[in-house]
Amino acid sequence: MILSGEQAIALGAEIIRGGGVVAFPTETVYGLGANAFDASAVDKIYEAKGRPSDNPLIVHIADASQLDGLVTDVPQSARLIADAFMPGPITVILPKSDAVPDRVSAGLKTVGVRMPSHPVARQFIRACGVPIAAPSANKSKHVSPTSAQHVKSDLDGAIPLIIDGGECEVGIESTILDLSVAAPTILRPGAITAEMIAKVLGGVETFDGKVVVAKAPGMKYTHYAPKCGAVIAEDTRAAAEEYARREGRGERCVIVARESDLVGLDGMRTLSLGTTDEEVCRRVYGALRYAETRYDGIIFVDLGAKGVCGSVMNRVNKSAGGNVIRRKI
Ligand code: TXA
Ligand code: MG
Repeated sequence: MILSGEQAIALGAEIIRGGGVVAFPTETVYGLGANAFDASAVDKIYEAKGRPSDNPLIVHIADASQLDGLVTDVPQSARLIADAFMPGPITVILPKSDAVPDRVSAGLKTVGVRMPSHPVARQFIRACGVPIAAPSANKSKHVSPTSAQHVKSDLDGAIPLIIDGGECEVGIESTILDLSVAAPTILRPGAITAEMIAKVLGGVETFDGKVVVAKAPGMKYTHYAPKCGAVIAEDTRAAAEEYARREGRGERCVIVARESDLVGLDGMRTLSLGTTDEEVCRRVYGALRYAETRYDGIIFVDLGAKGVCGSVMNRVNKSAGGNVIRRKI
């Protein structure tokens, strides 16, 4: 059931207090939440998503006061990050308190904590009165949901309530910053970029996606996979060449790109992500979900590595299994 407004929040909080799960909006993507202190409620998240149990969850709070029960130490770095970016699209990894069940942290001694800025998320968490453990509200391995409809198409029938808060403003998952180690390290890039964090902390190590011993257990899984295949084209020209090759084989594919990269593709099926970086970020998952139901394949024109585009390409690279098409001519 999809509901919005006060009624949705009241019902959602009731379900959470009764040990159930509820999907709710955040500024990044929709989450599937349960009481973070209730291991059997948390189990229902893994069940509904079909999520492997060694992939830890992020705990969502509405106010800094909720942090006390979750972590054993709040280092100075965490205070600086909180002052600069919270509430907002960032998750910090800190040493976990015993009150947080191992089901949440997948057995790790640390826990990811995030304070979302979406007003509906904040109202919902406050109404629940407990921190909310929540992964993205998609079926495991699928593209993260940025609207209530996306959640419904993945989890309809498996969860009692989806709180509708409109389309997510940011559109990709939060930046994950590990502050439990000596050198703060970005485990997952996001809208809060390495440059922004480095300005606050003086420096930060970035995660390049090629670890041998995965720091976050969840990182070994393929994520963000649209149901049709996807490849990345290095530029518009390479995309057009690949499109023509596939068309010759009878494949109905689509070129997904920033508006300015779609020029000269007349007569080809295209999908625009818009013009600004923020717009591209907000629209990327919706575009992948739209394309997967209509086409045989997605050709995604590289957005480059600058700022938030680098974070978007981190996800798209995973969707495409690292498959990049270079121009031949
Ligand atoms: O924007 C977001 O972060 C969204 C919304 C709902 O808040 N949530 C989200 O959750 O993307 P999920 O489960 O899809 O991704 C959480 C990832 C895990 O896969 C894991 O890589 C990392 O967070 N993680 C969680 N706890 C961790 C920990 N203690 N140590 C290292 N990584 C952790
Ligand atoms: Mg996810």
